[in-house]
Amino acid sequence: MKRLEGKSALITGSARGIGRAFAQAYIAEGATVAIADINLQQAQATAVELGPQAYAVAMDVTDQASIDAAIATVVSHAGKLDILINNAALFDLAPIVDITRDSFERLFSINVAGTLFTLQAAARQMINQGHGGKIINMASQAGRRGEPLVAVYCATKAAVISLTQSAGLNLIKQGINVNAIAPGVVDGEHWDGVDALFAR
Ligand SMILES: NC(=O)c1ccc[n+]([C@@H]2O[C@H](COP(=O)([O-])OP(=O)(O)OC[C@H]3O[C@@H](n4cnc5c(N)ncnc54)[C@H](O)[C@@H]3O)[C@@H](O)[C@H]2O)c1
Repeated sequence: MKRLEGKSALITGSARGIGRAFAQAYIAEGATVAIADINLQQAQATAVELGPQAYAVAMDVTDQASIDAAIATVVSHAGKLDILINNAALFDLAPIVDITRDSFERLFSINVAGTLFTLQAAARQMINQGHGGKIINMASQAGRRGEPLVAVYCATKAAVISLTQSAGLNLIKQGINVNAIAPGVVDGEHWDGVDALFAR
């Protein structure tokens, strides 16, 4: 018996990287997975590669209308939403004296507000369904300590850990489990960009 047979999952930022790997693993366990990403073309290619249990959804986690539309698409495609993985995030790197307001606002908009308001929309849907759900937020080891060149990203991931604790305590009453994962370095396309930033 597969562990996620009949479950409907939405994974943000799953066109590539860790999100794609989550999708692949969930599909292997029997779930139907929405490959939700701001890069629709790559999400569509990934969905084709992962097979008929995957489908692509255009989603920008910084845009409330896009969040609501993505949840509605999942419900119309799979009939329900059982699992959300809040995986989409952006990284940036700068010494403290060079951090720009634009970078700060972009990272907090995607990594923190995107996580909170996608979690909120998913929780509302799960509460309406009446049988709980699972929400997993991608934090990072960067959220558990400071780094000299990565202050803003670290702060966003610390905020994700805090939001996870508060949401977990609040939503458990409705049978919704909220947890976070805080991995160290996971190699993938993301690190090509990070390596280029370090090199600069
Ligand atoms: N790779 C690592 O070493 C590492 C370590 C710890 C935590 N993490 C976390 O794991 C998660 C995935 O990391 P990754 O390395 O796979 O990243 P990645 O950059 O490879 O993938 C991120 C995906 O998010 C999508 N995305 C970006 N902005 C979006 C938006 N506004 N709306 C929807 N989708 C958007 C991108 O198109 C991309 O497909 C992130 O939350 C990251 O912070 C990564």
